[in-house]
Amino acid sequence: MNIQIPRGTQDILPGEVELWQYIEEKAKDVCRRYNYHEIRTPIFEHTDLFQRGVGDTTDIVQKEMYTFTDRGNRSLTLRPEGTAAVVRSYVEKKMYGQPNQPTKLFYTGPMFRYERPQSGRMRQFVQFGVEALGSQDPAIDAEVLALVMGLYEELGLKNVKLVLNSLGDKDSREAHRQALIDHFRPSINEFCDDCQSRLEKNPLRILDCKKDREHPLMNNAPSILDYLNEESSTYFSQVKNYLDRLGIAYVVDPTLVRGLDYYYHTAFEIMSEGEGFGAITTLCGGGRYTGLVEEIGGPSTPGIGFAFSIERVIMALKAQEQAIPAAPQLDCYLVSLGDAAKEKTVELLYQLRRAGISADKDYLDKKMKAQFKAADRLQARFTAILGDDELSQGKINVKEMETGEQSEIDLASFIDYIKGKTVGGK
Ligand code: HAM
Repeated sequence: MNIQIPRGTQDILPGEVELWQYIEEKAKDVCRRYNYHEIRTPIFEHTDLFQRGVGDTTDIVQKEMYTFTDRGNRSLTLRPEGTAAVVRSYVEKKMYGQPNQPTKLFYTGPMFRYERPQSGRMRQFVQFGVEALGSQDPAIDAEVLALVMGLYEELGLKNVKLVLNSLGDKDSREAHRQALIDHFRPSINEFCDDCQSRLEKNPLRILDCKKDREHPLMNNAPSILDYLNEESSTYFSQVKNYLDRLGIAYVVDPTLVRGLDYYYHTAFEIMSEGEGFGAITTLCGGGRYTGLVEEIGGPSTPGIGFAFSIERVIMALKAQEQAIPAAPQLDCYLVSLGDAAKEKTVELLYQLRRAGISADKDYLDKKMKAQFKAADRLQARFTAILGDDELSQGKINVKEMETGEQSEIDLASFIDYIKGKTVGGK
């Protein structure tokens, strides 16, 4: 019986993985410039962390978690997102007590959600995210947005749209919550079961319901922006002001609701408006959170962050037919003729690699012609040909593939010669 890859997961093979590496390296480089440092947390955590952190009424917690009981009878969950885990570590390692504040972290790694797989929606996907903890300055909201928008620009992503909203502070949200309950209650039996159960627990999430999107009450639902108190409204204006000063374009959408419970004040998504991107258009989501650190047992600390999946960035890059970086070329391929020469290439190959040169040889006893073909396929910059005759004379032939130029080199200086032409040269 053939065993196949689990639904909603993928293999990333050589040829494709270079694009992943390229995006990851660019993202890390941007984080370095913004002074965000990498954190690596476990792939599984106590289930309780996500129930409390992400929120009991969210789809993630109610329907999508990969939860299992380990042999010690503990309930563990494969992380569905990174923020709760980062905050858990922040609290546990008392990062709030460290001298450099705010604490600015980034992470990348696989996340798991039991969702219905479709283009852009996987059960295992890789998120890249940042979290800045310990500052309530609207300038840090702008910094986080500048970081991700700048990264997308450097990656060459076109047609991205930053959609912004404010969910207000606790008081504003409470007033809005009540207005939503009053708005939906008279007709709540026309809504799906999920919405009905959310009416009292978390009416904001009704606005995010995919099933009831077309219901007339959705269009004229009370807007959070009408319920922002002065402090929240000033905060939102300041964030927008900073974005204007940085020249970062955005649109305000008062219906933007995030799928996780922890957000207050700034909430945002970045959408791809490129053609051919498919039904799911959200590239990135994030926002500001206030109660999360306390919820997880730390001192009251504000935070803000975002995450996007590399899968969706790749989809967007492919949809716009962005040139994809090619696999790196091999510096040198060794071709041999005769037994003594073949043995010698094992040594030469070892020395080349130790000198920092990427190199390979044939291991399938191929004929010389087939060895040359392999060198071509690997796009080797240099092919070095060693026959038993050359070996006995202490020589080796080196061909520069691009120019076709051939030189006979002393074996003793061969490594230095290739080094000078590749890693040590231009
Ligand atoms: P989220 O909106 O649940 O937020 O996910 C963020 C991003 O992860 C999405 O915009 C999308 O790029 C990607 N994503 C989510 N689910 C899938 C999936 N099934 N397949 C592929 N990609 C997916 C969070 O996770 C928050 N932790 C973001 C955050 C950080 N907020 C504050 N800090």
